[in-house]
Amino acid sequence: MLKTICYISSITNKTSQKDLSQLSDFVASKNNQLNITGILIIQHGHFFQIMEGKLQIVEDLFNKIKVDQRHSD
Ligand SMILES: Cc1cc2nc3c(=O)[nH]c(=O)nc-3n(C[C@H](O)[C@H](O)[C@H](O)COP(=O)(O)O)c2cc1C
Repeated sequence: MLKTICYISSITNKTSQKDLSQLSDFVASKNNQLNITGILIIQHGHFFQIMEGKLQIVEDLFNKIKVDQRHSD
């Protein structure tokens, strides 16, 4: 069964431009390995992400993303 998650969050102050470009590269490569499709947009101090993949993989990943200090809310 597939699951899709879509959210918006705020980039935290301590996250640098370099952190953001490293994150983009990491996400593209990691999601490819995990067979997750979607999009991550970084703009105006916010992240907008849609991700879709196998239910358990997406839920496990979202639990990690929720506690990631590079963003909040
Ligand atoms: C806004 C945001 C979006 C993220 N999206 C993904 C993602 O789609 N896929 C992913 O593997 N990690 C994503 N991450 C990174 C995860 O929070 C986490 O650092 C990473 O999954 C840890 O991978 P590891 O368990 O292999 O160390 C995202 C982080 C942030 C801040």
